[in-house]
Amino acid sequence: MITVTGTVFQLDTAHTSYLFEARGGLLQQLYYGPRIKTHDAEPLREKTAAGYGSEVVYKAAEKPLSLDSRPLEFSPKNKGDYRLPAFSARTGQGFTADLVYEGFRVEEALPAPEGLPAPHGGDGCLIVTLKTADGLEVELLYGVFEQADVIARSLRVVNRTKAPLELLRAMSFQLDLPGCGYTLATLDGAWARERHVTEHRLAPGAVVFGSRTGASSNRTNPFFMVYEDGAGEFAGRVYGCNLVYSGSFEGAAEVSPLGSTRIMEGVQSDGFCWPLAPGERFEAPWAVLTCSDAGKNGMSQNMHRFVKEHILPPAFAHKLRPVLLNNWEATYFDFNERRLLRLAREAAALGVELFVLDDGWFGARDSDSAGLGDYEVNRKKLPSGLDGLGDKVRALGLGFGLWMEPEMVNEDSGLYRAHPDWAVKAPGVEPGRGRNQLVLDLCRREVRDYIVENVVRTVKTAGAAYVKWDMNRHVSDNYSPALDEQGRFAHRFVQGLYEIFRRVTEACPDVLFEGCASGGDRFDLGVLCYMPQIWTSDDTDAYERQLIQTGTSYGYPPCVMAAHVSASPNHQASRPSPLEARFDVAAFGLLGYELDLTVASAAEKKAMKEQIAWYKAHRQVLQQGDFYRLKSLFGPDDTRGLTARETQWITVAPDKSEAVAGEFMGLLVPSSAKPPMRLYGLHPDRLYEISVRREVINIKTFGSLINQILPFRVNADGLLMHTASGVYMLPCEEEHYTAWGDLLMRAGLRFKQSFTGTGYNDDVRLMPDFSGRLYALKAGAGALRAEKESKNEQSTN
Ligand code: GLA
Repeated sequence: MITVTGTVFQLDTAHTSYLFEARGGLLQQLYYGPRIKTHDAEPLREKTAAGYGSEVVYKAAEKPLSLDSRPLEFSPKNKGDYRLPAFSARTGQGFTADLVYEGFRVEEALPAPEGLPAPHGGDGCLIVTLKTADGLEVELLYGVFEQADVIARSLRVVNRTKAPLELLRAMSFQLDLPGCGYTLATLDGAWARERHVTEHRLAPGAVVFGSRTGASSNRTNPFFMVYEDGAGEFAGRVYGCNLVYSGSFEGAAEVSPLGSTRIMEGVQSDGFCWPLAPGERFEAPWAVLTCSDAGKNGMSQNMHRFVKEHILPPAFAHKLRPVLLNNWEATYFDFNERRLLRLAREAAALGVELFVLDDGWFGARDSDSAGLGDYEVNRKKLPSGLDGLGDKVRALGLGFGLWMEPEMVNEDSGLYRAHPDWAVKAPGVEPGRGRNQLVLDLCRREVRDYIVENVVRTVKTAGAAYVKWDMNRHVSDNYSPALDEQGRFAHRFVQGLYEIFRRVTEACPDVLFEGCASGGDRFDLGVLCYMPQIWTSDDTDAYERQLIQTGTSYGYPPCVMAAHVSASPNHQASRPSPLEARFDVAAFGLLGYELDLTVASAAEKKAMKEQIAWYKAHRQVLQQGDFYRLKSLFGPDDTRGLTARETQWITVAPDKSEAVAGEFMGLLVPSSAKPPMRLYGLHPDRLYEISVRREVINIKTFGSLINQILPFRVNADGLLMHTASGVYMLPCEEEHYTAWGDLLMRAGLRFKQSFTGTGYNDDVRLMPDFSGRLYALKAGAGALRAEKESKNEQSTN
C-alpha cells in the first residue's frame, strides 16, 4: 500500500514498512524494516541541532544540515555527501547536480525500463521526481509487492536541460541504514564453485563488489544480504537485495566515518558512459529489496515468493518440471544417433521424461573449437536430422530437448566466414578468445535477427519441448560499430540479449527454456523473467552441490535450480560420492541425470529407477514447497570438531500437509555426538508420519569390513565383490516415527546411531563422507482427528 501524508511517503507490504520524506528539498530516509504503524513521522526523523566539525553545510537556509550525516534516499552530487554516490553525470555544471524534490505520482503498474524486463504484478508504483535548476531530472521509482514483502526500486534520468549531458553512474537504488554493526554477505565463486557465501563484517570504508564480465557472473551474484549483528538463519533482521539484470553490475556497502551504512546496486559504472541529448532518458534496471526479522530464512522466503509470483514467466511458474537425461557428461562430443538412442531407451526404462541432446549436434562441432554460429545439423552424427532423432525419442515416450549457444561464434564456422564483422572486437585489436570462441555483437540488429530466426527455426524443426540456452565465455574487447558511444556497450549488449530472449520465447511459448552459462555464470532474475530455470553449476559433485545450492538458496527458490545426478568420481571435482547422495542433493532442485546409463550396473539402474519414482511421488513439495535451510557448511565450525558438519534442508508444502527433509554429510567425525535434527516450517499442531527414504548402499563402501557383515570371506578388491556390487546393494536402515510438528521443530528428531566402525546391523545408520538421507513427512491419516482431540483436550484443561 502506498500512503502519502503531506510529504511523507509510506510503502507498506504485509510485513514491512518503508518510509521517507521530502524535506528541505531532500529525500530523507525515515525507516525500512518490519511493519510499523506511524502516528506521525517525528520519532523517525534524525535530529540535528549542530553541525559536525569539518562538514559542509548543504544550503545556508538549511543550516546546520549536512548531507554527509543524513540518511538519504538519493544524494545530490558534489554537495557535501562524500559517501559513495548512487549517481554521477557530467553537465554544463560539471559534476555538480543539486537534485531537489519536485513532486510525485502513483501509477498502477511497474513500467519496464527500456529494453529490460520488469517484475510483473504488484500493488502500485510510486514515482518521485527530483530536478536540478537547469532541468536535469531524476525519477525514483518504488514498486510495492505486498504479499512478497518486496519493494522494487529503479531510477530514470531524463535530460530536460537544453544541452547534451553524459551519465556516468546510475545505481538502481541507494539505501542508508541506521548505524553500523552490519554484515554484508555476497554470493561469490568461480566456474564449478558458484555462489558460496562470503561474509564481510562492515567497518569504516566501502566493500565494492560486482561483475565486469558482460554477464551477472559466477564471480559475484547480484543477490546480496545485509544483516544486523546476531542475525542467524531463524532470527534477526536481514535485508536482501537483488537486481533484475543479467549484465555487468556493481554493488557496494559503505560505513561512513559518522557510523551509518549505505548500500546500493545498479549497472556497472566502470566503462559506463551514457550520453543523453536533450529529451533523452536512461532507465536503470529494477532492484529488489526485502527485509525480515525472521532471519536469513525469513528473508529468503520473501525472495522465493517474489521470484515465483513476480519474476518467472507465469505459464511456467507453478508448472512441475520433467525429470530429464542430458547426454553431455555421458558422451561429450562423441556420439551418433545409435548411441543417443541407446541412452534414451535406458532413460525411458528408468522413468525419465525428457531426453536432452547437448552440445555437438551441429556444423563441424566435434570439439569446442568449431561450429558455433551454425545451425545445420551434423548429418554424419545424426543422419535422420533433429526431426528424425526427435521423433525416435518421442516414440520412446520421452520429450526431446536441445542445447544451443546462440550468442557465440567460432572462427571455424560458416557464420564467421560469412560475417567476420559480427563478432565483438575493437578495431585493430586482436580479440581475446574464451573456450575458442568469440562473442556475437548483440548490439547489432542484423545479428539479433539472425539468432532469433535460426533458433526459432531449429527449435520448431526439432519439435523441441525444452532448450538449454548456454553462454560459455565472458565478454571482452567491448566495442560495437552500431554504437555512437562505446560507453553504452555493456548495457546495450544486455538489452540486445533481452530482445532476443523475448522474441524467441514469444515465438515458442510452450518450450521450457533453461538458462545456462558455463554452468551458473549467469544466474539472475533477468534471465528468470524469460527462462523459468537455470543450470545451477557444471559441478554436480554431491558435496560441492551442498554448498552451491545452499548459497544459491539465499536469493533463489529450489524450483529454478537445475540439479543433476552425474558420475562418480565427479568430472569437475574428481571426488567420489555415493549414487544415492548425488540424488538426495539433486532432489532439492529440478532433477536430471547426466551420466552414461549404458554402463550403469543393474543395481545402479534399479536404484535410479527407485529414485525417480520417489522424486515423482514428492515432486510437488520438492519443486514448489517452502524451502528452509536448517544447517549449512558456511560459517565458522562451532562444533569444535566433535560433531560432523552437515547440510540440512527442508521443503514444506504451503498447506503444511507434507514435507521432505534432507541431511547431507560433510566429513564424518568418528565417535561423535549426533544432535537431534530440528525441523522448521511445519504445523506445530499436526501429527506427522516420518519415514526415511530407503536408500541402498554399495557393498564396496565397506571395503574389507564387508567380511564382518557377510557369512563368508571375500576379497574386497576382487572380482566377486565387483560382480556382486553390480547386482546387489544393501538397503539402508529403516526408520519410521510419528510426531507432532512442535516436537519436530522444538525438540527435533533423534535418528538411529551412526556407524562408528564397530559392527553394522539394521539399526545402524551408515553415513560416510558426502552421503545423505531424505525423510518424507506426511500429516498422518489420523492427524486431523488427533488435532481435534488435542484441541478439545486443551479447551477442557
Ligand atoms: C557448458 C555447460 C555444460 C555443457 C557444455 C557443452 O559448459 O555448462 O553443461 O552444456 O557447455 O559444451
